[in-house]
Amino acid sequence: HPKALLRAIQEEGDCLIQLANQHIVSGDQFDQHTMQQLFRLAAKIESNPKRFHTPLRNKILISAFYEPSTRTRLSFESAWHRLGGDIMSITDRSTTGIAKGEGLADVAEMFNNYGDCVVLRDNCNHSLYDMMDSLRIPIINAGNGTDEHPTQALADMYAIFKWRPDLLDPTVTNKIRVGVIGVPNKMRTVRSFLKCLSVFSHAVAEVVVIYDDAAETELFAPGQREELEQRGLKITTSHQLEPELPELDVIYINAISWEGDCVHTYGRRFHLNAASPLKPDAIILHPLARGEELATDLDHTPHNWYFSQARGAVFLRMALLTCMVERTEHVIDVV
Ligand code: CP
Repeated sequence: HPKALLRAIQEEGDCLIQLANQHIVSGDQFDQHTMQQLFRLAAKIESNPKRFHTPLRNKILISAFYEPSTRTRLSFESAWHRLGGDIMSITDRSTTGIAKGEGLADVAEMFNNYGDCVVLRDNCNHSLYDMMDSLRIPIINAGNGTDEHPTQALADMYAIFKWRPDLLDPTVTNKIRVGVIGVPNKMRTVRSFLKCLSVFSHAVAEVVVIYDDAAETELFAPGQREELEQRGLKITTSHQLEPELPELDVIYINAISWEGDCVHTYGRRFHLNAASPLKPDAIILHPLARGEELATDLDHTPHNWYFSQARGAVFLRMALLTCMVERTEHVIDVV
């Protein structure tokens, strides 16, 4: 329940003010203190959402999703609605001037006139960066190609700390072993998750990356593993799922990666189901959409934290949007 997490985090200073009018592009932007305060606010909202129905009144979100999405678009839009704001949605770039060759910088210049915040999902890694220089309203990366999905990672961490608030304690001894079934080099969810997890490396005994050795791709991008290890994560790798499962406390599984205009699947020989040899109190996280890798017979077991993860994303995004947008008026005045 969010109240246990709320009790575990003291309100300390107003570090969230630094998020006002900031672009959110990467998991790297969040230090431990900021994340904790964000989780505290999310838990406060989740405990009593009706108290927070006005912060974004008269504010407009431009929701631009040029790649398919169920959770991210709808949870951002739900979050914005719940905070009292209005939304303009673009779900197909061919309905905009982009189809006529309009440059992204010009599109961004127009967005400044029409909204107070942009949430962008794009299959190109660089579109976000092409727009940022021209934007005077904040933009949130809702998934840019194979690069990053920072708010998904924040939602992942929010789910983990709701499950085990004691992991926030820097002296925690009952550390977790995390299994990541996926490809950190290709999956933006996994890339951002590992970045955010590394901020709390004090709570992580080990991360085991389980991957299909038949996948014709590099498991890590150049320097990616070294950077995570420098931040304190102990990383090992394995080609076998079943022998690892009885030792894992958190299993983060994903099998798809959107690359260019196509979905690629990785690790399809790995499957989790209710008969998998999981620790009795292990939790499963999955950014979803799911495929064959995650059987529906797990949905009604205590291992299912992936639905809670998706539900919590609404409150996490409400917290983030409130901090980013509510206080932007004086900043935008300089335009
Ligand atoms: N987790 C996630 O990004 O899901 P969608 O693709 O449905 O937004």
